[in-house]
Amino acid sequence: MGTLFKGGTVITASDMVPADVLVEGEQVVMIGKNIPGKGHEVVNCKGKYLMPGGIDVHTHLDLDFGGTYSNDDFDTGHKAAAFGGTTMHIDFVIQPTGGSLHDGLNIWRKKAEPAQIDYGFHLAVRDLNEAVLNEIPSLLDEGVTSLKLFMAYKNVFQIDDRTLYLAMRQAAAHGMIVMVHAENGDVEEQLRLQLLAENKTEPHWHYHSRPPEIEGEATNRAVVMAGMTGCRLYVVHMTCEPAVDALRRGRALGYPVMGETCVQYFHLTYDKHLRAPGFEGAKFVCSPPIRSTHDQGILWQAVRDGTLQVVSTDHCDFWYEGGVGPWQQWAKDHNGGDWPAFEKQNPTYRRPGKELGKGNFAKIPNGLPGLEDRMMVMWHLGVNTGKISPSRFVELNCTNPARIFGCYPRKGTIAVGADADIVVWDPKKVHTLSAKTHHMRVDYNLYEGMKVKGAPAQVYLRGKKIVDGDQWLGSNGSGKFIARKPHAPIL
Ligand code: URP
Ligand code: ZN
Ligand code: ZN
Repeated sequence: MGTLFKGGTVITASDMVPADVLVEGEQVVMIGKNIPGKGHEVVNCKGKYLMPGGIDVHTHLDLDFGGTYSNDDFDTGHKAAAFGGTTMHIDFVIQPTGGSLHDGLNIWRKKAEPAQIDYGFHLAVRDLNEAVLNEIPSLLDEGVTSLKLFMAYKNVFQIDDRTLYLAMRQAAAHGMIVMVHAENGDVEEQLRLQLLAENKTEPHWHYHSRPPEIEGEATNRAVVMAGMTGCRLYVVHMTCEPAVDALRRGRALGYPVMGETCVQYFHLTYDKHLRAPGFEGAKFVCSPPIRSTHDQGILWQAVRDGTLQVVSTDHCDFWYEGGVGPWQQWAKDHNGGDWPAFEKQNPTYRRPGKELGKGNFAKIPNGLPGLEDRMMVMWHLGVNTGKISPSRFVELNCTNPARIFGCYPRKGTIAVGADADIVVWDPKKVHTLSAKTHHMRVDYNLYEGMKVKGAPAQVYLRGKKIVDGDQWLGSNGSGKFIARKPHAPIL
């Protein structure tokens, strides 16, 4: 007995066709017209769309960053993702200080034990010594095909140009892809110190320490190195015209370069959100910063014309009002303890969050929530307004992430033989985004009060229903690590 999705319209990156979909076990086994329901559990999909589960290739769950840890972990974050129609994500393993890449992988494997949806790992290299350079190819045996290099966050994650160049050369030789956070961290440091010296400390000064020029310059540098080394390059969270221009130039020259933006950059602006009264702007502090309506126009154009291939979230959430309870004493006594588990058992405690930066914008932990909201917001802002077609929506949120990161066609499409990660999407469902109702573990929502039209009705992971309306049916440990393949196509 299988599950028969009957009477819906299947949306893939190329087509939108009325069809029934039959799932047996964990896979799609048949797509066709009038498939008989006898012997199967029938899901009535009349008036609904059937889309592949969303894949968010840019998340930071349970990340030690900014003087605290990001809130959502591989338990809460997974549940939130699924409620929004995302059934797989790829998280960034960070090479520990003084440790190997495999040390980092082992730390993240432990974090991922409660997994409820499928996941993969990228590896962020911080210290490229000889041993680490030689270790890179062995990541392929672990199903990890992508490296990440931060060109910013001086004295934290930032690497130098030598590292960027050597890592790209090594990645190119093995068909791996290099992802970069493209901002010039050295210039950012100088701008930041200057602003603080002038007593400019409110949240919106964050923007002025990271203007579009430093994103454009770093993007161009990485693009040129991709051209020199032949390495596939994927620029993460692109926000502005100089960066998009640099990528477009590289593509016109035939370099193997691609890029993503994140859903929040289509909605949030410096004027409205970062400059909100009081400390409110801290809710929207991320890097690169949110920009202007002009840049939003540039980003829409870039996702329409194919300069950008993916929309992700960069989900990395922090409490707006954190540091609640005798937190600091506990952290001191339990150095290295399991912060998320402790908080869950002691709901009156909250680890530090955005409030760390009161009086100094540079101390606001950088990052935003969004894993749950991505598909609904992109549908609402993109499809409902006619900026992108439903098929382009699927391509940006599901198919291209799977193609670029080596798990297509198992993931990212609805096809015979693919994993049955299926979202039954109700285009008529109206849903109000709010911190009161979302499942992310954070006390604010970027889109608070936004009424979106179009949302998941049911979500299936490898054939198993994990979300039914407001009901959670998933379970810890049922999410699988997805080993990925190298040699990504250049889209
Ligand atoms: O502000 C951000 N983006 N925080 C997460 C880390 C990163 O740079 O992606
Ligand atoms: Zn980044
Ligand atoms: Zn990120």
